[in-house]
Amino acid sequence: MNAVEIEQAITDLAEQPFDAANFPYAFLEAFGNKVTTIKRLRAGASNKSDLGGVLQTSNIHILTCDAGQVTQTLATLKASPATAKAKAKFILATDGADFEAEDLTSGETVVCSFEDFPDHFGFFLPLAGISTVRQISENAFDIRATSRLNRLYVELLKDNPEWGTADRRHDMNKLMARLIFCFFAEDTDIFVGKGRFTETVAQMSAKDSSNTHEVITTLFRAMNTKREDRAAAKIPRWAENFPYVNGALFSGGDEVPRFSKIARSYLLHVGGLDWTKINPDIFGSMIQAVAEDEERGELGMHYTSVPNILKVLNPLFLDDLREKLEEAGDNARMLLNLRKRIAKIRVFDPACGSGNFLVIAYKEMRAIESEINQRRGEPDRASEIPLTNFRGIELRDFPAEIARLALVIAEYQCDVLYRGQKLALAEFLPLSNENWITCGNALRLDWLSICPPSGTHVKMQADDLFDVPVGQTEIEFENEGGETYVCGNPPYLGSRWRNKEQQDDLASLFSGRAPSFKDLDYVAAWYLKAADYLHAVPDCCCAFVATKSICQGEQVAMLWPLIFGQGLEISFAHRPFHWSNLATANAGVTVVIVGIASIRSSKKTLFEGDEKRVVDNIGPYLIPVGNIIVQKAPRPLNSLPRMDYGNKPTDGGNLILDRTEKDFLIAAHPEVARFIRAYVGSTEFINGVPRFCLWVEDEEVEDARLVPELCERFENVRTLRAESKGQQANANADRPHRFVFAPHRSGSALIIPRVSSERRLYLPVGIVDDTTVISDRAAVIYRPETWLLAIVASRMHLVWIATVCVRMRMDFSYSNTLGWHTFPMPTLTEKNKADLTRCAEDILLMREHHFPATIADLYNPENMPNDLRGAHDRNDEVLERIYIGRRFRNDTERLEKLFDLYMSMVSKGTKKLIVRKATGGAKA
Ligand SMILES: C[S@@+](CC[C@H](N)C(=O)[O-])C[C@H]1O[C@@H](n2cnc3c(N)ncnc32)[C@H](O)[C@@H]1O
Repeated sequence: MNAVEIEQAITDLAEQPFDAANFPYAFLEAFGNKVTTIKRLRAGASNKSDLGGVLQTSNIHILTCDAGQVTQTLATLKASPATAKAKAKFILATDGADFEAEDLTSGETVVCSFEDFPDHFGFFLPLAGISTVRQISENAFDIRATSRLNRLYVELLKDNPEWGTADRRHDMNKLMARLIFCFFAEDTDIFVGKGRFTETVAQMSAKDSSNTHEVITTLFRAMNTKREDRAAAKIPRWAENFPYVNGALFSGGDEVPRFSKIARSYLLHVGGLDWTKINPDIFGSMIQAVAEDEERGELGMHYTSVPNILKVLNPLFLDDLREKLEEAGDNARMLLNLRKRIAKIRVFDPACGSGNFLVIAYKEMRAIESEINQRRGEPDRASEIPLTNFRGIELRDFPAEIARLALVIAEYQCDVLYRGQKLALAEFLPLSNENWITCGNALRLDWLSICPPSGTHVKMQADDLFDVPVGQTEIEFENEGGETYVCGNPPYLGSRWRNKEQQDDLASLFSGRAPSFKDLDYVAAWYLKAADYLHAVPDCCCAFVATKSICQGEQVAMLWPLIFGQGLEISFAHRPFHWSNLATANAGVTVVIVGIASIRSSKKTLFEGDEKRVVDNIGPYLIPVGNIIVQKAPRPLNSLPRMDYGNKPTDGGNLILDRTEKDFLIAAHPEVARFIRAYVGSTEFINGVPRFCLWVEDEEVEDARLVPELCERFENVRTLRAESKGQQANANADRPHRFVFAPHRSGSALIIPRVSSERRLYLPVGIVDDTTVISDRAAVIYRPETWLLAIVASRMHLVWIATVCVRMRMDFSYSNTLGWHTFPMPTLTEKNKADLTRCAEDILLMREHHFPATIADLYNPENMPNDLRGAHDRNDEVLERIYIGRRFRNDTERLEKLFDLYMSMVSKGTKKLIVRKATGGAKA
């Protein structure tokens, strides 16, 4: 269960009549305990209570009691030997009227009336095994509001299914946005009288809910009518006190769907929350899930945390503003200049969702501006930062609306915080008509028209804030442009996950500019759009969160030349880190943050975890080296032997046998045994799954054909290859007994699976003899010297592969030409080779000790055997000393060395080439 579901469950529980005997079980169930767990507790098998209550080991001791006995009961629970023995984390006592609980670890307590205990759901979240309790507790209000709005939304759609159709979706979204505004306004004195909106609906609508929609319609109409026009508009007296909000939020149709009794009561419940606690940066991302069928299951639990957003915004520009504030001290002129500068800053998020990056940027800038005003002795001064400087593009309708609302709410909250409620209220209403969040496809829109670099006037005022046609060019800015910062967290989407429209989006931007781009992640398109935009806009920088794949493997060569080619460079970067959120289905992705800007002489900042380094340059692999891109090399650039892919059957499975097929065939025709070999690719090698193949040399084919089963298999292969569209298959149709690509040789072979999990600490490599045919799912070096295994199995090689080879999802995809032929190696002495040979033998020996464990077992990072780990460690030690005379401190240092060597290897190669050309092809 996620936090929203738990909140819903305990709210339901608090609303039911109190049942003393059942409450402890219902409480535990609400926190996600399984039915079987509850059954065992009820049966007494796992209930350790010595007081007649319910005590779940390592969790909670609950006791219900007679009226008025709650405090004593809690004390009894605390003193109970069973509580200590079972290591209970919480104790809880209630009589159905009062409720008391204690967290025995922190000593924190909750004392409240029974009906209010759901307000403290965050306190009990450890019971549900939710580890991010602090994050959730801090956003407890947003979670509750989302949960309640979700119920209302679902209930309304139940009674008004047409409001869920594509035609009415927008109206439904608009209704939710208006309601959220009203709930916020009634709790923050924007509407005179606390709870005014909810109260009015409660009083004026019949209990059977028959006219609830009419009452709400009337209130919306009032908010859309200026005071002087109200009589003519026949606004009833009971709606008179509601202010004119504006012609945007409440204009453009005031139809409201019909409310059932349940929907009415949900509405009153939502209104009953304390909306002053709304956190517009979090709330927007959560609430947007309500309107999305696919996302509703997680209810916004994937929201981006504020610290993660600041990882983008701080280095992009906020740190600089804060530094300038520091430098200004109390110097009035410097402070004034900084204030002017801030007022002109434009922040633009071209995949803004519900505006969280914009809201955080706005709030942080207001904090700096307020500090300036304080230092200048002008604490009440109105903000000069216009909301319209915070631009966004969002594809989906509801988040785009919520983004505007979130910014409006953020502005009000900042005004209250920095200038006081009186001034905030005086200037809040009516809201302006401007529309500065565009609903549309960012990859098809002209960013320059949505966020132009200069201009001061309003070009177009929308009649209706919520009814601007998709893609319509937005308003001009209020003030002359200053700096522009493009930021956000655009959709990542690897090539397999894109729909046709998204493929076309990518093609519309990349075709004609990049020789290949289809394997790029969707997010790369935002970088290219941003690069074009930066090229046209002076004083502009950009930073997005992106999948790490755009800075690894083949994608690097597809994207980064286009960016560097526009005179841009990487201005700062966060090396890959885990981007987790609270969504239960989300395993988290590994992301990078990359800032780009016009080439400046200044230093760049590279973040790795909590570490921050100032460096001269950040290359496209996010290593502090030059802007070098590793290219495929058909032959080794180093002094290592050439590597191939294994043998490729192209046989429709006819040349391959599993164990049963093999045994069956040999039993029927013992002479076939000589044509059968072990067949090993990635899976077979890693998981120890035996497979076999038919391996018939040309001179043996006549003998093989004497066996009817083999003959039939060869015929199948012939047909399949003849009908194939592949040239290689066609060319080999008449040799169906052979693989289409067959580099197999006698002697041993070094095998490197092409795909393997990135969780392993080392690449799962090994040596096989020539009774084994290696498939094309693995790379291979035939007749290797043993020390080569020490190199392929090293941490050095793994970090190189992880950086320069493509990765699919969470896996490595080993490439001989990109990963091995390019692998930078110092020249090895005979002594080095002997040392490495010993290391490789040691690794193989340690594996032997664990026979019959598979490679998957041995290299499971959670329980890799210590002796094997030790052998690898010694191998790393020996190899790394060959590189730099000591162990590397971390992977970044390993990569720095590798890229340095790569650069000199490539430049040597280029020199050789030049000499060769100059000497007409003679060897240099
Ligand atoms: C990963 S979310 C980030 C939103 C927000 N910053 C957050 O952290 O929740 C990406 C957003 O981009 C929007 N989006 C996807 N494709 C888009 C496109 N082609 N143009 C504009 N927005 C798009 C999605 O609807 C989604 O709201």
